[in-house]
Amino acid sequence: MSTGPFIGVRACVFDAYGTLFDFASATRGCRDVLGDALEKLTALWRDKQLQYTWLRAAQGRHADFWQVTGDALDFSLDALGLDRPGLRDRLMRLYLTLDTFAEVPNVLRQLNAAGLKIAILSNGSPEMLASAVGNARIDGLIHHVLSVEEVGVFKPDPRVYQLAVDRLGVPAAGISFQSSNGWDAYAASSFGMKVVWCNRYRQPKERLPGHPDREIRSLAELPPLVCPAGTPST
Ligand code: LAC
Repeated sequence: MSTGPFIGVRACVFDAYGTLFDFASATRGCRDVLGDALEKLTALWRDKQLQYTWLRAAQGRHADFWQVTGDALDFSLDALGLDRPGLRDRLMRLYLTLDTFAEVPNVLRQLNAAGLKIAILSNGSPEMLASAVGNARIDGLIHHVLSVEEVGVFKPDPRVYQLAVDRLGVPAAGISFQSSNGWDAYAASSFGMKVVWCNRYRQPKERLPGHPDREIRSLAELPPLVCPAGTPST
């Protein structure tokens, strides 16, 4: 895989959950109740949430990400026998104010300084995304917050990636798409975007159509790949 800078990138589009926002911060906020079950719940809730998006997309039975996230949490609490008063509501509330990964604000500032268009393209509902972005105080650094609700189907349906092209007015080849979700990165690549797989979770490569152009461990490695030479890097 090449490591040099991209040529011709005009926009940076980010996945939200797992890429900008740390979904594990919701369960971490309930460590007092979850104890040893914390890691199992974090993993099962996320896996189930994604499975439900794919299954609903395959069935043509869309429901928004807030419902899917709640349904996945109900399944997971049930599967792990975690029936504690108030726990579900507490976790769902925390999902609206997830932590950003530490490097995110500074990286967004660098991309802004380089004159790039910056967007989020996420399964999240508009309300969930507005809450996460506002809570993280990065609203001034992101020009478009795009939710799959505009097309009524979840990733990796190609209509989702097309939404970014249409709303930004930039062709797929002029977009650098960043996701920590391998399947999302491969799908955006297969669609025709330039793709940086932010492989925070050290996953093996996917056996799916597409081939991310670059692989990084944290978004701190992104600016040199997308900012034209000579742009200040702090
Ligand atoms: C999103 C999920 C896939 O933000 O992380 O779209």
